Amino acid sequence: MKILVIGSGAREHAVVLALAGGPDGTPTGHELHAAPGNPGIAAHARLHALDPMHPVAVGDLAARLEVDLVVVGPEGPLVAGAADAVRAAGIPCFGPSAAAAALEGSKAFAKDVMAAAGVPTAMAHVCTTPDEVADALDAFGAPYVVKDDGLAAGKGVVVTSDRAEALAHGAACLARGGDAQVVVEEYLDGPEVSLFCLSDGSTVVPLAPAQDFKRAHDGDEGPNTGGMGAYSPLPWAPAGLVDEVLERVAQPTVDEMRHRGTPFVGVLYCGLALTGRGVRVVEFNARFGDPETQVVLARLASPLADELLAAATGRLDQQPRLRWRDDAAVTVVVAAHGYPATVRTGDPISGVDDADALPGVHVLHAGTATVDDALVSAGGRVLSVVGRGPDVEAARAAAYAGVDRIALEGSHHRGDIAARMPEL
Ligand code: AMP
Ligand code: GLY
Repeated sequence: MKILVIGSGAREHAVVLALAGGPDGTPTGHELHAAPGNPGIAAHARLHALDPMHPVAVGDLAARLEVDLVVVGPEGPLVAGAADAVRAAGIPCFGPSAAAAALEGSKAFAKDVMAAAGVPTAMAHVCTTPDEVADALDAFGAPYVVKDDGLAAGKGVVVTSDRAEALAHGAACLARGGDAQVVVEEYLDGPEVSLFCLSDGSTVVPLAPAQDFKRAHDGDEGPNTGGMGAYSPLPWAPAGLVDEVLERVAQPTVDEMRHRGTPFVGVLYCGLALTGRGVRVVEFNARFGDPETQVVLARLASPLADELLAAATGRLDQQPRLRWRDDAAVTVVVAAHGYPATVRTGDPISGVDDADALPGVHVLHAGTATVDDALVSAGGRVLSVVGRGPDVEAARAAAYAGVDRIALEGSHHRGDIAARMPEL
């Protein structure tokens, strides 16, 4: 198969690696292309310069390469219509249309779909003025949850007990003007789970659940980020969780989207809180999560390309049951100086090959670039170091052994990824 992957993060590196056969699997022989890709992805795929935010350019590239399948990684291009452009060129695309990607692109839209589909989620008010924000904050009480309605790269949500900070975030989101909206919602207490569900518009196939660490610093301190680490499986998760989420969350949402005439094809990322009152949706994303994909795909034993093509062509019901490795994976993100605020780029990176050579370790690139043959930092999340082992502890030890080999001045990473399991 000839496959084009759109994006340039560690998630896309993980997807490309899985399409190529995995870190130590048999090569699949697929012809892989990536745009724009990154230096790590270049080991498995031919790279093409491209601004993925331009749907026409994405569609044109897919047509010019005559690929059999396009996989769109990030939310920005999806919300901008990349998948629509690919389908318009007559090429199967794994990724939702702009209309369906609104499940991620607008939190207010997602709430509306969940209400219509009877999906359990936090109670919420959609606000358009600072006064409405203030009233909603007082109605729900502390801790306060204030969300920018639109895409914000994981940084649009403030959870705080400081009413002034909550108000200020609401005001800042509204200050953008236009039809800016803010979602204020009930605080959900309980461990979080990310469950990715593949959808062809009708049939839904859940992947293995993972847990993400969203805060910048150890002990879940500091600002929210795109994600600083993840692990899978979740030994503590209740039996039947995946089936319950499929039945109560993912399938009703996919059905509702189909009934609205905007079928959801791609990954429905269910961000969940396991509260004392049951499972609640914290958010939907319309794509694979980063860094959870790095651990989920590391454990997938079935051929990824077949599954994604089946989803893109409405044939998921004909696929054999997914197989999973009976092991664990942990990933630790190495972030640039300053991340998630203003990041410094251009710092030399060393030790990636040493880390990669360790047993059970592979390094995925995110914000990297090559300048004069040297690898340098080029983004906020620079590398995602994945460790695998028979259980979470062993995988964690492998991941941190890999991180220890890597040198990047001013970088930071969390030391407590997968260190403690939640208690239910
Ligand atoms: P989101 O972008 O909606 O996933 O929010 C980012 C993070 O903020 C989530 O992963 C949670 O850790 C936190 N969060 C979002 N909504 C809530 C909520 N209703 N209650 C508690 N924490 C939340
Ligand atoms: N890891 C969170 C996300 O991908 O949005």
